Amino acid sequence: MPRQILTEMKEWAALKKHYGEIKDVTLKSMFESDGRRAGKFTVDCCGLHVDYSKNRITEHTVSLLIGLAEACGLKDEIERMFRGEKINATEGRPVLHTALRNIDGGPVMVDGHDVMPGVRAVLGRMREFSDSVRNGVWKGYTGRPIKNIINIGIGGSDLGPCMVTEALKFYSQRDLRSFFISNVDGTQIVETLQGLDPEETLFIVASKTFTTQETMTNAATARQWIVDALSSDKAVPFHFVALSTNLDEVKKFGISDENKFEFWDWVGGRYSLTSAIGLSIMISIGYDNFISLLKGFQEMDNHFRTAPFEGNIPVILALLGVWYNNFFGCETYAVLPYDQYLHRFPAYLQQGDMESSGKCVDRSGRRVNYQTGPIVWGEPGTNGQHAFYQLMHQGTKLIPADLIGFARSLNETGDHHRKLMANLFAQAEAFAFGRDDAEARAAGVAPDLLPYKVFEGNRPTTVILAERLTPAVLGKLIAMYEHKFFTQGIIWDIYSFDQWGVELGKELAGRILPELGPGGTSDLKHDDSTNRLIDFFRRYQ
Ligand code: F6P
Repeated sequence: MPRQILTEMKEWAALKKHYGEIKDVTLKSMFESDGRRAGKFTVDCCGLHVDYSKNRITEHTVSLLIGLAEACGLKDEIERMFRGEKINATEGRPVLHTALRNIDGGPVMVDGHDVMPGVRAVLGRMREFSDSVRNGVWKGYTGRPIKNIINIGIGGSDLGPCMVTEALKFYSQRDLRSFFISNVDGTQIVETLQGLDPEETLFIVASKTFTTQETMTNAATARQWIVDALSSDKAVPFHFVALSTNLDEVKKFGISDENKFEFWDWVGGRYSLTSAIGLSIMISIGYDNFISLLKGFQEMDNHFRTAPFEGNIPVILALLGVWYNNFFGCETYAVLPYDQYLHRFPAYLQQGDMESSGKCVDRSGRRVNYQTGPIVWGEPGTNGQHAFYQLMHQGTKLIPADLIGFARSLNETGDHHRKLMANLFAQAEAFAFGRDDAEARAAGVAPDLLPYKVFEGNRPTTVILAERLTPAVLGKLIAMYEHKFFTQGIIWDIYSFDQWGVELGKELAGRILPELGPGGTSDLKHDDSTNRLIDFFRRYQ
């Protein structure tokens, strides 16, 4: 039986009414009228300090939002995911990235079969392999140890490993260099290989399907580079490993059984970095750090599964997201990590959120009549402050933001870290409270400049702090967002774990490709615009 349409629920109507009452209330007045507000809207859990008090909410808002989550059956839906039910219905699969970090937990059943022994076996093989590369036991074809690790993959097979490898660079083995090639634009592989010694280079071909055009094209080019440089096909097994669910295709590519690391169709691409897809991460930071990362994920998984909604970090973040997206009409939200190591975090979350929640049909096949996934974007602080914060402070759009920071730096250097964090705290304060006319006057602003120098404030932020950026803390942060996306998907009644929207473009590119090659002609097969674009390209070949 189809679920009641979200916007027809009484909980939705109550929120709509409440929005009307609260939309003009300022954060300034909320803080002035309640000196204990921050304590009421902070969750301290799993080593994270999540202060969501600078959001345009009251306790009543939170309880109405929780009421909505309950009416949408969130509790049962969480259990269905963890239990391995086939909640990814359009692909007929369970969604069990949580099993990948259930390393010291009980069995997880899929079709009557416990998947945990397989998960542990692959982890064990990843350990052996990564150790052998790290300690120089694994040799290239000419007997030289590996110095360069190149992950070839795209989307979830690139963004996750790349983001985590960058985020945990502090913990990396410094004589190994990590590279990531994703784009089918040959410039990326050509520029990456510049100056690298093929004898010391290992390629990790990461692809769930092992059919993705970009990855297969880059893998073929890399293979040729190795074969040409080392003058033999026999070099391939020494310089290539594969991470995939599609073992037949891996074999066809010429990668032997001992060089392949399996994962399973119940791991979504954008949720796959804790599977074999994380091999490049493990090589960089070592097995023990990788396990700490998994344990961080696991702690957040347990928290999400068991904590009451009012103290459940991913649920709270998701409810805030729904509040702004569906009631305030915000189109985007920003993720602003005040840590240079997290510079790829917004890009990673972009795929996680936008591929999961970029849907316009509900789970009963109906076109939704409400907004679903927001646009996610961001850059590390303080760089963003000198780029796009102007619009966030004084533009016409309301952009909620998550500001992420750490009490201690991994690289204590003079007073850099204090300055960094002063900026984070100051930005959250400025977004919330702005500077009114009287304050601007008191600060000496000339009357004719007042309109330009007043800050309205009332811009919502959530500040997420931890002591230090460790592998475990990173795992918790990632899992926190994964479960936020899941929760929002349940409220919006959409399938969060498919991505059919990327298919049409792939199909059409496959049709156009032969038209661009020798002897190809568009022969007016497309619309007038596409035909002319193809003609322009062909003119220069
Ligand atoms: O862009 C679509 C997508 O299927 C993503 O979901 C996925 O992460 C990416 O392509 C890569 O797919 P694969 O790992 O199969 O190469």
